[in-house]
Amino acid sequence: MKKNILLGISGGIAAYKSCELVRLLKKQGHDVHVVMSRAAAEFIGPLTFQALSGNPVYTDTHDGGFGGNGMAHINLTRQADVFLIAPASANTLAKIACGIADNLLTTLAAARKCPLAVAPAMNVEMWHNPANLRHIARLQADGITVFQPAEGEQACGESGTGRMPEAAELADLLPDLWHAKPLAEKKVLMTAGATFEAIDPVRGITNLSSGQMGAALARACRAAGAEVSLIHGQMQTALPAGLAYSEQTQGAREMLDAVLRRLNGQDIFISVAAVADYHVKNRSRHKIKKDGSGAPPVIELAQNPDILATVAALPDAPFCVGFAAESENIVEHGRAKRLKKGIPLLVANDVSVAMGKPDNQITLIDAERETALPAGSKAAAAEAIVARIAELTAAPPASETEAV
Ligand code: CTP
Repeated sequence: MKKNILLGISGGIAAYKSCELVRLLKKQGHDVHVVMSRAAAEFIGPLTFQALSGNPVYTDTHDGGFGGNGMAHINLTRQADVFLIAPASANTLAKIACGIADNLLTTLAAARKCPLAVAPAMNVEMWHNPANLRHIARLQADGITVFQPAEGEQACGESGTGRMPEAAELADLLPDLWHAKPLAEKKVLMTAGATFEAIDPVRGITNLSSGQMGAALARACRAAGAEVSLIHGQMQTALPAGLAYSEQTQGAREMLDAVLRRLNGQDIFISVAAVADYHVKNRSRHKIKKDGSGAPPVIELAQNPDILATVAALPDAPFCVGFAAESENIVEHGRAKRLKKGIPLLVANDVSVAMGKPDNQITLIDAERETALPAGSKAAAAEAIVARIAELTAAPPASETEAV
């Protein structure tokens, strides 16, 4: 959904990352308006942000351009859905925490009506300075979202916490700010990607799953307020930002172990991984060599555990969601698979549309209804799946509870 994003840039070398951020937010379809402090304009010229955003850049409190009444500090936030300050310097954060409004950026923060998020960027000692931590706590208490700075090498040559999160991470997390939270306080455990069953140290059996559906679903659950843990095989796509936990596994048996270790306290389990049905029984410790006879090696297969069915059969199983990747009779196979695995919700899809591709066409199958969705992006499919999970896991209204 297209949003109007006001991006504030305060003084710091991390301002260079905000160029990429503007590009990514534009790519997501949003309208971006940039406001810079004077110190920020020393690092990157306003013209750069004007070219990237396609909108004029504001630096002065008395800029008359926006709205034409000389009140850019009011007008700019009135038309914004969200105000993000990235990078947010220690100085700017301190001023906002104390309500000081002495430049366009801090005046906008004070006068805003829309939600405010900040991405701090500063030297590690500045970050740990008690005054700064006090201001961060104050901002959070005031309902301002603080994107935690990352650890690593800093521009000053020191190392530690204080780096502004990468632009891709901020662009991934920002939409959570305007998303409804039907899965608030829920814990979701997911599997995603392709398993890999080793034949020898260099070869194995895998499949074409790219992990894109799993990544989209993890993002949608996170945006809906859930705490998301992801156990994944091979992924051809970046892991979503903001996961509570992630672990990479190889074969199905290793994936099952990781799932069972993480299962305690989970409310929902979503099995998106394309799991190999068999592993290699006679896996070779060393690389298999041709023996010169021309006879191919014999690969013996043994059945893998069914991760989803194992979890669903546990006495205190979470709400389980499975996928059925089919190439024919999609809904019929999906229906049968839901019952066979003993799960409340199954997502049936056509492998030819979905496998390794950005789009999907899904049918949601549960005990009450079957809903075929039009073909669309995996992000749109993920939204629909989350909406149905939220409906099916919602606590019954108080009146119904009393009647029981
Ligand atoms: N699944 C699993 N463990 C397995 C196989 C599948 O957890 N060993 C999960 C998948 O993540 C998916 C669902 O079960 O959510 C269905 O997977 P799919 O590959 O479509 O079907 P299978 O159960 O393997 O059945 P079949 O191969 O007969 O179609």
